[in-house]
Amino acid sequence: MPMKLYYGKDLSAWNTFGMKVSCACFVEYSSVARLQEFWKAWRYGEHVLPKPFLHIGRGSNLLFTGDFPGTVFHSDIKFIREYGKSREEGDETAVPRSSEERPGTAGRPAESSGVVLVEAGAGVLWDDFCRWCADNSLWGPENLSGIPGETGAAAVQNIGAYGVEVKDIVRYVKCFDCVTGAAVTFRASECRYGYRDSMFKSGAKGRYVVTSVVFSLSAVPVPRLGYGHVRAAVEKVLGRPVPDVAGCPAGSAESSRLPDGLTASMVRDVILDIRNSKLPDPAVMGSAGSFFKNPVVPRSDYERVASVARLEHGMDCEVPHYDAGSGFIKIPAAWLIDQCGLKGFRAGNAGVYEKQPLVLVNLTGKASPEEILYLENLVRNAVVNKFGIMLHPEVEHV
Ligand code: EPU
Repeated sequence: MPMKLYYGKDLSAWNTFGMKVSCACFVEYSSVARLQEFWKAWRYGEHVLPKPFLHIGRGSNLLFTGDFPGTVFHSDIKFIREYGKSREEGDETAVPRSSEERPGTAGRPAESSGVVLVEAGAGVLWDDFCRWCADNSLWGPENLSGIPGETGAAAVQNIGAYGVEVKDIVRYVKCFDCVTGAAVTFRASECRYGYRDSMFKSGAKGRYVVTSVVFSLSAVPVPRLGYGHVRAAVEKVLGRPVPDVAGCPAGSAESSRLPDGLTASMVRDVILDIRNSKLPDPAVMGSAGSFFKNPVVPRSDYERVASVARLEHGMDCEVPHYDAGSGFIKIPAAWLIDQCGLKGFRAGNAGVYEKQPLVLVNLTGKASPEEILYLENLVRNAVVNKFGIMLHPEVEHV
């Protein structure tokens, strides 16, 4: 079905919090051409669509604060293919999986540097894309495995985990311009990427709909194992040490020291294990991943946090932190919330996840938007009262 239009649709399955909310109208399209046709018909008054408009992926970074009075759009554009390989429009929903389709490894050779460009439709589940890359021995998104949501939203939100952000592997973002009705392509450098941010969610919010993303991947190993315990976990599986080759050019003498058996699939599996041990499975317990951003504060604020911690725990107490450049420090919000004693805190049907306090959860599956909002305020107040740091939600409130 190329185009679907529903009125009064239940959105329970369209937000990973599992909120029982609905929207006045829901539109789903399966290709850029269908979106263009629909847009033209709407401009000429053929469709009456309640406003406001909201484009969603899988609703994995959204908190619906009530029923949505307008029209929700969703892309069902699903394809993964080597960039530049044209297909008939009807093929767009096909996700190539056969060995003949392996980009860069079959048919056409990878660029001499090992770079392979792969394009994925906005509606491809992000983790399906990660699995496809790993299955095809392409490096790039393996550290981002297991993140809920879809490829288009990943490029809007600049998802990140375990030392990698999606902007690191995005080459182009293809969009539909809702003002002119034209298809436009942006280079990654034009997308104004920042920490969980891009022009698609700030300056140009609402103007562009991402239709597909072109990724720059590597056919030669480029493991990024520097975050937390990732290297140790990979070495445990491999049974031997893995040298740090981050920053060394692919194919260089340094990178050829990597042990045999180190594959993108293996790193992906390690990341999935780490995630499963820390984060709730959205299929079992509703959440939107990290609810708050990690605050980036001036050094003076960090010093204040450190003195509060020393007063409480003694002079040896270390506050985890990362240098964010220009005199700013990033402090893990999880640590701040943990220090307020809120890990595992429960308020009605909502709770602070017991293994990762940055995640607010729909504990019973029956949490209302009000319960999540109450908990959000409670956490923010606790952190600001104790440390003088205001947390800001990463999750978009609708
Ligand atoms: N920490 C605690 N108590 C806890 C858990 C963590 O004090 O119970 C402290 C520790 O000091 C730990 C630090 O928080 O070292 C950081 O924790 P973690 O490595 O789990 O990462 P995070 O900063 O809390 C970020 C992303 C996650 C991503 C992880 C791993 C944000 C807002 N969140 O969390 O992304 O998976 O790093 O890379 O940047 C998401 O965006 O939805 C998301 C899950």
